[in-house]
Parts: sequence; C-alpha cells; structure tokens
Amino acid sequence: MSHKRKKITVIGAGFVGSTAAHWAASKELGDVVLLDINEGAAQGKALDLFEASPVEGFDSRVTGTADYKDSAGSDVVIITAGIPRKPGMSRDDLLATNAKIMKTCCEGVKEYSPNATVIVVANPLDAMCHVAYDTLGFPKNRVVGMAGVLDSARFRSFIAEAANVSVKDVNAFVLGGHGDTMVPLPRYCSIGGAPLDRFLSEEKIEALVDRTRKGGAEIVGLLKTGSAYYAPSASAVEMAEAILKDQKRILPCACLLEGEFGYKDLFIGVLCQLGGDGVEKVVELELTEPEQAMLKNSADAVQGLVDALKGLDY
Ligand code: NAI
Ligand code: 2OP
Repeated sequence: MSHKRKKITVIGAGFVGSTAAHWAASKELGDVVLLDINEGAAQGKALDLFEASPVEGFDSRVTGTADYKDSAGSDVVIITAGIPRKPGMSRDDLLATNAKIMKTCCEGVKEYSPNATVIVVANPLDAMCHVAYDTLGFPKNRVVGMAGVLDSARFRSFIAEAANVSVKDVNAFVLGGHGDTMVPLPRYCSIGGAPLDRFLSEEKIEALVDRTRKGGAEIVGLLKTGSAYYAPSASAVEMAEAILKDQKRILPCACLLEGEFGYKDLFIGVLCQLGGDGVEKVVELELTEPEQAMLKNSADAVQGLVDALKGLDY
C-alpha cells in the first residue's frame, strides 16, 4: 500500500464510523482503516465501500480490521466507538460504558499511532475528550472533540430554512459543552455577512436556538433505535480534512482550555484554528454577561461529568 497517502483510522464501524469512512474515502482524504471489535462488520463495510470506488471514482483504499496493528502510523484517528443513546437517555447516561471503550481505543492509538491527531466523537463528548487526553498522553493540540461543527451545522440548516436562503451563506456557531446547555450565539451569526435580525424576528431566532439545543434529541426521537449519523460523520470528516490538508479552518471544536474564557483543565467547545498541528489556536471572544452565564452553566455541566469520571473504575 502507498506510503505517500495520508492514513485515517476510524474506530467504531457503526453508523457514525462507517458513514465517516464513506465521506473520508469519497473525498480522497487518504486511505481509510475502519476498526471495530466486531471484525466482520468492519471488514464487510470497508470492502463494500472500497467496491464503490470504481463507480464513484475515488482513489482511497478502505480496509476493515479489529487489530490496531493495521492502524499503525495513522495521521488522523476518529474515535466513534461507544454506545449511542436511545430515546429517554441523555448523552450523560453513556458515561461509564463509553469511558471504558474510549480508554481501550486510546491505548491502541497510543501504541500504534503516536503521532496522530485524534478526533473524539463518542458521547458524552466533552467528558470523553478528557478520557482520551488522559489515556493518550498526547499534547493538547492533538486531541480535539467533534460537537460544535455538528451543533453549528444544525443551527445553520435551521436558519437557512427559516430565512429561505442558501445554507452556503449562513455563518453561525455554537460554543460550550455538547449537551442541552450548549450556547448558540446568534449575536455572532450572519447571513452573507449581514446580521441575523435583518432576516428573522427575535422570537424566530430564539425558537431556532431552542431547536438547535435539542437537535440531537429530535433525531433520536424520530429514529428510536439510535442517534444521528450523517451530519455527525460529515462534521468529523470536515475536521479531519482541515487537519490533513493544513487548512487552518476556524471551527467550533472541543478543546482543552488552559485559561481561555476563564476556564482551566477543561474540554469545552470553543472556536479554534484547525490545521496540520491540530488545534493551533483558540479564538477568544468578547461575551456579554448573559452569554458568559450560559457558557458557565455549560462548563459547570461538563465539569460535573469530569468529576463523576473520577469516581468511576474504567
Ligand atoms: P453504533 O452503535 O452504530 O456504533 C458504535 C460502534 O462501536 C459499534 O460498531 C461497536 O461494535 C463499536 N465498538 C464498541 N466498543 C468498541 C471497542 N472497544 N473498540 C472498537 N469498537 C467498539 O453507534 P453510532 O451511532 O455510530 O454512535 C457512536 C458514538 O458517537 C455514540 O457514543 C454516540 O453517542 C456518539 N455521537 C456523538 C456525536 C457528537 O456530536 N459528538 C454525534 C453522534 C453520535
Ligand atoms: C447528536 O447530537 C447524539 O450527540 C449526538 O446527535
């Protein structure tokens, strides 16, 4: 196999992982390794995806495995392994089970891909970033969580639909933890550079903010047997692309804060610069008092989970 191509390992060949492999391969980001404890599922989905390559015309080798040796030397690793939530469950209910899984996965990544940048996807997202960071022992710039890109994509879709404009012209982002306390920031949103209130009433904007906060639950309620995967996987792959191509994108991601926004030793969603060195910069913003209070509420919720992790044997 070529050694010049980038290598992306996606851990967890379930809904989010296999769809991430699909986006990554079809964008020719590199060769893709799909890894799962369910080896047959990983191999079968990878082979099936590879067999689509002549039809779709992408040059990416896609392979499936249960063995971390096959993931060796990855440039980017996307970790989706973990159980998803079912109706009635919060993301936080997944803490103990997914912490164990995350730790196992990160031990494999640490051994075989010590230079990778790791994109954490499993929930509860911000707490899983802590498990990953602690297990990997990588510098903070090479551990980053996916949530803000997804939550912002939901917000952008809803804004575009309500204002009847192209999604391409909607710029919006969400800060904070990936939970019901997330902080969509309409004040910083724009449509074609113009403020949101030129297009939508205050009440409508507030309704879209509320729908964004509940965006994950809306999909769980419809699917009933699992959670969202198209937009989540597309979001993780957008981050992978930014890193693999050193694009220096400015995206909302879960990053380890060390004083920014007044928080320390905590992963939460902030705007950051994503490039070849992973998280290259955290972009600090002026927040109003109510926005600061919402961010604190969200950071407190994440801190609660991080504290709960300390009492778990994983
Ligand atoms: P899924 O159940 O379809 O897939 C999970 C896969 O992980 C399964 O194939 C399972 O065999 C595998 N797995 C379990 N333990 C493993 C281990 N130790 N090593 C390797 N593979 C292992 O679930 P889905 O829908 O793909 O969701 C995955 C995770 O991503 C869930 O925790 C979900 O909550 C989370 N998620 C996070 C989002 C975010 O915004 N951060 C958005 C969507 C999902
Ligand atoms: C979502 O937001 C469940 O975190 C997942 O769709």
